[in-house]
Amino acid sequence: MRTQVAIIGAGPSGLLLGQLLHKAGIANVIIERQSPDYVLGRIRAGILEQTTVDMLHEAGMGERVQAEGVVHHSIELVFSGVRHAIDVHGLTGGKVVTAYGQTEVTRDLMDARNAAGLTTVYEASQVAVHDFDSNSPRVTYQKDGQTHTLDCDFIAGCDGFHGVCRASVPEGAVTEYEKVYPFGWLGVLADVPPVSPHSIVYGNSERGFSLCSMRSLTRSRYYVQCPMDDKVEAWSDQRFWDELRSRLDPALAERIVTGPTLEKSIAPLRSFVAEPMRFGRMFLAGDAAHIVPPTGAKGLNLAASDVKYLSGALIEFYAEKSAAGIDTYSQRALARIWKAERFSWWLTSLMHKFPDTGAFGQRMQEAELEYLVNSTAASTVLAENYVGLPLDWGH
Ligand code: APR
Ligand code: PHB
Repeated sequence: MRTQVAIIGAGPSGLLLGQLLHKAGIANVIIERQSPDYVLGRIRAGILEQTTVDMLHEAGMGERVQAEGVVHHSIELVFSGVRHAIDVHGLTGGKVVTAYGQTEVTRDLMDARNAAGLTTVYEASQVAVHDFDSNSPRVTYQKDGQTHTLDCDFIAGCDGFHGVCRASVPEGAVTEYEKVYPFGWLGVLADVPPVSPHSIVYGNSERGFSLCSMRSLTRSRYYVQCPMDDKVEAWSDQRFWDELRSRLDPALAERIVTGPTLEKSIAPLRSFVAEPMRFGRMFLAGDAAHIVPPTGAKGLNLAASDVKYLSGALIEFYAEKSAAGIDTYSQRALARIWKAERFSWWLTSLMHKFPDTGAFGQRMQEAELEYLVNSTAASTVLAENYVGLPLDWGH
């Protein structure tokens, strides 16, 4: 088989890239290790920056997010037992974020790809990338007991943190920066109306962090910070709801509607960046190149902005025979990534209880939060990062 761009991974990065390239007339094939159901079964965050929503429109699939996404004009912060709203919309000159689950984004992209009749090879094993330092890279994989080869012009490594693409780069050609946080997030999904349908609530408490989010007006997503080595089995539904309530202000705690949980899982928190994001004719995009802790919901949005830059660069290459875009892809993408890394790390540091937080650290967090909600300058810093910095900002 031959194509122009071989995309490894059918997560949001790979699917969105495939759709944008297809719209521009560039042939692409996606090779994915898992089944479609497995990919759709992964529960991830669900807050979209306007840039991400705009890209879904550009990819021709903005209809559902437009109809079903819930626009948020503010965020809420709970600390010292009191809740404060930050008017994100007012502080950013009218910008908002949209609550719409990553699972839905993935489903819309899969549907669009199927409707366009594009090739996606699911359940491919032994995926390997070759010769990306030459002009004729190749991908090999096994499917149904046979070895297949996909010849291409470029390889897009959209294969997530544990993917094969970054792992195939020669040692010494890539530098990795990493911070692992000493706790996890226990997340629960339940078909109950969200306690705060029009803003995400971030809670700082002496008992640890908590978050109230949603997937729709009838489906809630809630989290509490937990020890990294905690087991889901140790958390009955009742224990979860009690713990969540104990970390919020009394009025909100009172309003929480509980119900049976559809999903309960513990996720680790990590900050990670790999530099550069281009190796000859192979590019990395999304989680393959970087991870943010979920605080602030930047992961999916960063994946989308990588794809924006990468699709633009490849379209320019084919349309204008210019390598300018692909030559600057890594630098442009990384400039945005590091700013989102900083924001996610800062919000994580401000909101969580660390092993060395202690009474002094707790008071420092509360003093910073107090400053944040009372200073227009400080709230604006939070708001403009939350809605997403403009593409190519500062350049
Ligand atoms: N071969 C083929 N496919 C692979 C391989 C491999 N060796 N390794 C991983 N994959 C697939 C995974 O099964 C997955 O479907 O690559 C896909 C990567 O998808 P994601 O992990 O969702 O990464 P990405 O598309 O970059 O999406 C970023 O996901 O984790 C969140 O916070 C993150 O929201 C952000 C988004
Ligand atoms: C989520 O909806 O899962 C979510 C929302 C906001 C965050 C993190 C996660 O900051």
